[in-house]
Amino acid sequence: MMPTDRYAVFGHPIRHSKSPRIHALFAEQTAQAMDYRAEDVPAANFRGAVRSFFSAGGKGLNCTVPLKELAWQIADFKSDRAQRARAVNTLAIREDARLFGDNTDGAGLLRDLTLNLNIELCGRRVLLLGAGGASRGVIEPLLDRQPKSLIIANRTPEKARQLASEFVDLGDIRGCGFGELEGERFDLILNATAASLSDELPPLPDDVLALNGCCYDLAYGNQPTAFVRWGIERRAAQSVDGIGMLVEQAAEAFFIWRGIRPATRPVIELLNAERRIKV
Ligand code: ATR
Repeated sequence: MMPTDRYAVFGHPIRHSKSPRIHALFAEQTAQAMDYRAEDVPAANFRGAVRSFFSAGGKGLNCTVPLKELAWQIADFKSDRAQRARAVNTLAIREDARLFGDNTDGAGLLRDLTLNLNIELCGRRVLLLGAGGASRGVIEPLLDRQPKSLIIANRTPEKARQLASEFVDLGDIRGCGFGELEGERFDLILNATAASLSDELPPLPDDVLALNGCCYDLAYGNQPTAFVRWGIERRAAQSVDGIGMLVEQAAEAFFIWRGIRPATRPVIELLNAERRIKV
């Protein structure tokens, strides 16, 4: 029998994580002998927990809120995309015992937008809400798709301007406050604020979504988020949450660890069906 390799996701809180289920489905689908658990690890215990996990033979970790910046700090070497995002959501131990850090969030979002949802980005006006870690991780892959413009709007405008200034070499990007969106129209609005977590809505002008525009919330839940509902009420062509991004970023991590790309569509469909049953 093949030995079972150990993986985990560390975060705080972590109780509601869907990652163990997603990776169990991937492992089953690709016949990989692996065990993936969720562990509640507060930031203060992170370094020690990572050290113990890998010294006990663990193969790979996902890191989620609030640990991605810390994971970036402790990785011995990183992918270019993780380096730019200054956040790591995937750690893998290499044969020479060095810890590799990557960030699969941006690639996961882009795969969901373009392959699963058929949302075109090239030449489109894109609005990104929020200027925290979740936004930082997706800016480079969004600009790679050559949107006409990318505006970052944030409650604290200075943070949006600062974040945008770090990516001006990659495309037409600028930061602003929500008040400055008055009169603007966007083909795609992405919500990367923490507002969804408390079922709140960023203060958006009522007519900021262009005709046939789409809304995408990077957060997800068993019910539609306040932002997804906002998009539906404004007749968005599509208004969806980040369950697809969650599955796609997990598939990218799985590929880094196992060298196999699992099929994501059946897993997204299964999770969506389970959510519908709960509603
Ligand atoms: P994350 O790493 O998940 O992005 P974060 O770094 O704490 O978390 O960033 C949270 C983002 O959500 C920030 O952009 C925050 O705005 P501020 O920079 O002004 O704090 C934004 N945010 C949180 N609650 C919000 C709310 N109720 N309405 C609008 N924006 C909100």
